[in-house]
Amino acid sequence: MTLGHAHFGYFTLWLCSLLGLLFILTGPVWGQEREDAGQRGDKHAEERVAADKPAGEDAGLERDVTAVDPPKRDDDPVGWWIGLAVLVGLIVFSGVVAMQPKERELEEKALAVSACGGVAGGKVAVFGDIHGNLQALEAVLSDIKQRGVSSCVCTGDLVGYGANPNECVQMIRDLGCPAVLGNHDHHCTSAEPLDKFNFVAAMSVLWTRDNLEEEHKEYLRKLPLVCEGENFTVVHADLSSPQDWSYVLDDETARTMFEDMRKPVCFIGHSHSPLAYVMDGAGKISVGPIGDERIESSGKYIVNVGSVGQARDGNPAAAYVLFDVESLSVELVRVEYDVEAAQEAILRVDLPPRNARRLSGSV
Ligand SMILES: [Fe+2]
Repeated sequence: MTLGHAHFGYFTLWLCSLLGLLFILTGPVWGQEREDAGQRGDKHAEERVAADKPAGEDAGLERDVTAVDPPKRDDDPVGWWIGLAVLVGLIVFSGVVAMQPKERELEEKALAVSACGGVAGGKVAVFGDIHGNLQALEAVLSDIKQRGVSSCVCTGDLVGYGANPNECVQMIRDLGCPAVLGNHDHHCTSAEPLDKFNFVAAMSVLWTRDNLEEEHKEYLRKLPLVCEGENFTVVHADLSSPQDWSYVLDDETARTMFEDMRKPVCFIGHSHSPLAYVMDGAGKISVGPIGDERIESSGKYIVNVGSVGQARDGNPAAAYVLFDVESLSVELVRVEYDVEAAQEAILRVDLPPRNARRLSGSV
């Protein structure tokens, strides 16, 4: 796992404090040195003038000495530097303190890997990015039931964008389904700034903050960032730094994540596009759509399970993955659902219309 922003904040605070301290401690010495330098300047000027001047030219000596006078203490810029350093330190300190508790909380969560409790053998349904889309979630759960799936795991983002966050969270809670925290879950249940969200996503988060019941918020806040089963890991975003909500969209990020994986397969979400990164025994990485993948013991697999309620791969159908814990195979499932009903629900509660349009399959 890599260090996050909080550690950088600690370092910045430490550095500023140290600089401020150095300025304060060395200020008197510098002041003394400048005074001594001034006095030396006086003496040299006196000697120079004394050597040059003809007898009786005291008035000329006074004029020349004034010309090489050291700066007065009142003009000394050291005091300004100390003030500036203290001021910068205070500004950084206040900024770090303001954002620290939440970041530290998330970092601690990232280190505390939970067990994906209740996941038995056989087939496991892995799904996420439900985003408050009740129609899509109902269709997926119905499909899962018909397939005789033994258990399920949720990759996070139960809420945000859709019109039914309460119902969706309640359904996952009723299932007793282990779940991890998504970035929308986190921001919809906290007062954190939304500067990393685009306008439409931010408006959706604000709506969800206003409409999500407190007991569901409390449930989401307690979700872990990472959970592990016997041979798999579940996380919403990049496993290497889950609290930073980075996307895994290139080989370089995937390679770093492969290095941090303790299990052969890691299920993620976040991008809303199903795909699989595979690293073979020789370290070669390939990426492609999820077929009927058989997990080879020599390789590692990052499987993005797509999105139940906000598909962004051009296919409006809900997506989830079936993972066979015994045969170690992965299969992508697409489920048609009543997209129009989900769109109408979004428009009815005055969420951004773009949330509805996107359900039609526009990326
Ligand atoms: Fe999402």
